[in-house]
Amino acid sequence: MSRLVLISNRVAVPKARGAAGAQGGLAGALNAMLKKHGGIWFGWSGAETDAFTGALAVTRTDDVTIATIDLEPQDVEEYYNGYANSTLWPLFHYRIDLAQFHNEFGLGYERVNERFAQSVAPLIESDDLIWVHDYHLIPLGERLRSRGMKNRIGFFLHIPWPPTRLFVSLPFHERLVQTMLHYDLLGFQTDEWLDSFLNYCARELGAAVDYDTGRITHNGHTTVARAYPIGIDYNHLVAQSLSEQAKAAHFRIVESTRHRTAMIGVDRLDYSKGLPERIDAIGHFFDLYPEKARELVYIQIAPPSREDIHSYQKIRELLEQKAGQINGARSEVDMVPIRYVNRGYTLAELTGFYRACKIGLVTPLRDGMNLVAKEYVAAQDPDDPGVLILSRFAGAAVQLQDALLVNPYSVDDVAHAIHVALNMPLEERKMRWEKLSRSVREDNILRWTDRFVGDLETIAQGVLPA
Ligand code: G6P
Repeated sequence: MSRLVLISNRVAVPKARGAAGAQGGLAGALNAMLKKHGGIWFGWSGAETDAFTGALAVTRTDDVTIATIDLEPQDVEEYYNGYANSTLWPLFHYRIDLAQFHNEFGLGYERVNERFAQSVAPLIESDDLIWVHDYHLIPLGERLRSRGMKNRIGFFLHIPWPPTRLFVSLPFHERLVQTMLHYDLLGFQTDEWLDSFLNYCARELGAAVDYDTGRITHNGHTTVARAYPIGIDYNHLVAQSLSEQAKAAHFRIVESTRHRTAMIGVDRLDYSKGLPERIDAIGHFFDLYPEKARELVYIQIAPPSREDIHSYQKIRELLEQKAGQINGARSEVDMVPIRYVNRGYTLAELTGFYRACKIGLVTPLRDGMNLVAKEYVAAQDPDDPGVLILSRFAGAAVQLQDALLVNPYSVDDVAHAIHVALNMPLEERKMRWEKLSRSVREDNILRWTDRFVGDLETIAQGVLPA
């Protein structure tokens, strides 16, 4: 087995392991993978330095070496807050109204990708497999190639790939995609995003595209693009759900929601997660069924995210306003219908919360996958499982067809699903959960890694995967 070199913007240092649920799925998922394969994980430390030096901070635990670099404040502004999170993130989540196109963001993005390449290159040995992750680092493969690196290099996009009509609004879109064709293997979360990408390559770049095998040939080089839906670290999650911490968290919810049904949402505070729309739908549900306001309590856990960016500050304000309005109108002296919590919890605590809540509400407007939906399923009590309400626009909906699938833009649709979930007989809950649970257990993180790394290894042997 070749050594793996993982490269991503954010690296979960071991002490942060337990907080994966609060960080977004990627860091937790990669941690699980490295535990199995060993190797190196390289990324940004999250810290700033006055002048970039490329000096590595290295920690080693078990078979995993974590190496990080610090970035300059201007890098963080232009690359992380700028191009990655104010240009690509909104555009790729269909929010062109929020996307900012500034040349200095693009230049900062290229500069930081070059800095990543320069700093990681000395760590790489000739037969390592290199796996680059997510939209922060799209051009990194090309930057490594320009330094003469001949290794097999794969790239996985954790977020959606937008339809061509939307993507072409990005200035220099051809250049960005051309850099992607320096990778050997490209992974997407779903066939929908993959198809959009292949379509772009054929129509806009004039590349030769084989839609059946995902082979894209351009300028004499062939790249394979495929869908690899990511899963959760199922065994780890189940172990966490049996911990004392999980039991204590479970008790906190049960104790404080006696005689009522608890419904939960856990999301980074991000406009792609559909949080204001969700609160509107809950308000609509209370309007339709006022007697339920005493029976249902909604718990929204929303750790703040990317707080230096204006659109994230706005979404926070909006959510506070909406939750406040409903609580103002519907609370009683002994009852508050919405508990809105602006902090993260450990994965163990989250599993306890998930198990105590009989409805899981996951309604992003657009999401590459959404691992909260899978975590919610895995944490349920098989004898009395809760009901998952899931946006049809989350990548996870492809596998989790037995959830109650909803259009998150429709308050009627979501309110109706809450009503159905509240009244669903145990028999039907069990039947749905068993199918969901099988999918989450089988399509887990190790399967995802094995499939992607397996294909990359096949390519390393000079064969294109069938
Ligand atoms: C999403 C992205 C990840 C990112 C995570 C948290 O899941 O796909 O790449 O790490 O959000 O966002 P942050 O900006 O805090 O890293």
